[in-house]
Amino acid sequence: MIVAGVMSGTSADGINVALVRITPSRDRGGAPHIHFLAHAEYPYAKRVRRAVLAAMNSNTARVADLARLNFLLAELYTAAVLATQRRFRLKAELVGCHGQTLYHQGEAAAFLGRKLAVTWQTGDGAVVAAHVGVPVVSDFRPADMAVGGKGAPLVPFLDFLLYRDKRVGRIVQNIGGIGNFTAIPAGASSDQVLAFDTGPGNMLIDAVTERLFGKPYDRNGRIASSGAVFNDVINDVLRMPFFRRKPPKTAGREEFGREFTREFIRRCGRVDKRDIVATATALTAKSIMDALRRFVLRGTHTYRDFVVSGGGASNPTLMAMLANELLPLGLTIRSSDEFGLPSEAKEAAAFALLAFRTWNRQPSNVPSATGANGPAILGKISYA
Ligand SMILES: Nc1ncnc2c1ncn2[C@@H]1O[C@H](COP(=O)(O)OP(=O)(O)O)[C@@H](O)[C@H]1O
Ligand SMILES: [Mg+2]
Repeated sequence: MIVAGVMSGTSADGINVALVRITPSRDRGGAPHIHFLAHAEYPYAKRVRRAVLAAMNSNTARVADLARLNFLLAELYTAAVLATQRRFRLKAELVGCHGQTLYHQGEAAAFLGRKLAVTWQTGDGAVVAAHVGVPVVSDFRPADMAVGGKGAPLVPFLDFLLYRDKRVGRIVQNIGGIGNFTAIPAGASSDQVLAFDTGPGNMLIDAVTERLFGKPYDRNGRIASSGAVFNDVINDVLRMPFFRRKPPKTAGREEFGREFTREFIRRCGRVDKRDIVATATALTAKSIMDALRRFVLRGTHTYRDFVVSGGGASNPTLMAMLANELLPLGLTIRSSDEFGLPSEAKEAAAFALLAFRTWNRQPSNVPSATGANGPAILGKISYA
């Protein structure tokens, strides 16, 4: 079956569409086989991005605009799927559409006398189904939260399928708006997989570049490569409770958005603007390393490969900083492309796979990653 996966992440940079062929396993209960076919990316128009970011900001969001955005994004997702199908002369029979996260709070907090963990992805599945003409699975996260999970990360299901190995342990790092990894020890079963958010991925880099240079991101890490890194600022930030908290844990703009950016720039002080971008880039690298040292690489371990995906893989300055720290630990950086899935396409492909599982009434959360009490069939189905 050809399945389209549609992802738009917390960077709010745009829409990724992956087309994959998924074949069920021959033995019952076995893993399906996933074959990559095509990927395309559709950046949000400037004003759409502005509207999405405004919707994520609870101080400025307006309810009528939120309702409009739900339908507008559905139309943009539809257009993205149709354009990809045309361009590659392929046709999906099912769509998995993640939607745009407007709010995610994986940790339960008090609200009107109850303790609730909540999440909200927008971009209506029924609209996409009607316009693309095939069933759509959307709204994946609540089902995991309903059984006690944090609703994230969900990509570990794909990571486990693609990257597990009998002899080599792999750490699979995605650097989107937020950084997150899946650690799969050699010969692991799925309940031995550890996965959680490591902190800011590109989110802080993007935000300081936007504020100080008026550009949406630090293209090819140019600015960061010409600045100096303030290690004392980084060490200070890494003392925040988020970094010390034991996994499972998730993060988003709620933790590393506007407020965090303002405080980060303040901590850097009156220095060359380039140094602030360099320090933000180094913070991303160090927070990943910090999470690895604290929670993964303790004692003897089987990890050898560090597989990177997401937009951050295209930032050579960030990658060089990471490589420097990984080398002494015996870890080698590999690109997700080497494993048959282009690095920008991985998250979108993951939601194609999750949609396929749901369509077949099969669970696809990884309880050891989300903290759920058990398996859950993720998402809601809209029929065409
Ligand atoms: N050539 C590049 N140089 C530096 N950074 C890049 C480059 N290409 C993409 N990025 C970064 O990747 C981000 C998008 O990553 P993505 O994986 O789409 O994140 P998300 O899943 O949060 O949408 C951009 O905002 C930017 O920071
Ligand atoms: Mg993106």
